[in-house]
Amino acid sequence: MKVLIATDKPFAKVAVDGIRKEIEAAGFELALLEKYTEKAQLLDAVKDANAIIIRSDIIDAAVLDAAKELKIVVRAGAGYDNVDLDAATAHGVCVMNTPGQNSNAVAELALGMMVYAVRNFYNGTSGTELMGKKLGIHAYGNVGRNVARVAKGFGMEIYAYDAFCPKEVIEKDGITACASAEELYKTCNVVSLHIPATAETKNSINYALLKEMPKGAMLVNTARKEVINEAELLKLMEDRADFKYVTDIMPAAHAEFTEKYAGRYFSTPKKMGAQTAEANINAGIAAAQQIVGFLNDGCEKFKVNK
Ligand code: 3PG
Repeated sequence: MKVLIATDKPFAKVAVDGIRKEIEAAGFELALLEKYTEKAQLLDAVKDANAIIIRSDIIDAAVLDAAKELKIVVRAGAGYDNVDLDAATAHGVCVMNTPGQNSNAVAELALGMMVYAVRNFYNGTSGTELMGKKLGIHAYGNVGRNVARVAKGFGMEIYAYDAFCPKEVIEKDGITACASAEELYKTCNVVSLHIPATAETKNSINYALLKEMPKGAMLVNTARKEVINEAELLKLMEDRADFKYVTDIMPAAHAEFTEKYAGRYFSTPKKMGAQTAEANINAGIAAAQQIVGFLNDGCEKFKVNK
């Protein structure tokens, strides 16, 4: 059996070594395609792969058509919006993610970005503190829970809204559950986004929601750029000189945000929430183990397609 790691944004070497150990211990072969620049390279590499480990790499019908021997794709991470699930099902390919494995890394980055922004991007001027501020967590999954845990240490007052997580689960963690997204945004000085990109959530973070945030508000996005209605966020930042946006996923309109809203906008150059050795090891090794379990024993835990 041949397992391919196809990562445009490579794992740390130590994680690749760990994945190799798992794959080779099962008697399988490991192939590596990193930092590819053309889709043709991916199409060529998947030809004889029985399993593929990816990150945010796009697995669409064309890739699945080229991967004639493919049985399983594991997205080493949480969000699988980069995989065409229907096409995978149609090709008889199992798709899995590795939930929770990189959540702490993303949560630490979210808090780091908050500190960076409230301290005026370390420009030497007087900023503000996170302690005592109201933090809204949207939504309360693996990353949201880790953000809550870290933010408690900063002394923030924590609120959360999750359309699918019962109020009791949120409140058991000592967090105030909001009844709606509107209530969360209206209440909180800082909102940290942790919703997946789905048909329902795409473009859902819009002017109407953000305009309700208190004076001096900040939106932190370590989730997906697609959930933001960019045109409306640009308008909001135009109308509200007090509003800050910090993101780990560069918006399509990055140049416009940078030019017009310097001092209250920041984007990382490349999504780096999960870019730590620990997260790479956790997610990469989980992916390798899930592949071995699936190929050897038919284990379908963490399967996300039908
Ligand atoms: C995830 O969905 O797990 C994160 O967005 C991390 O994505 P990455 O593996 O591309 O860094």
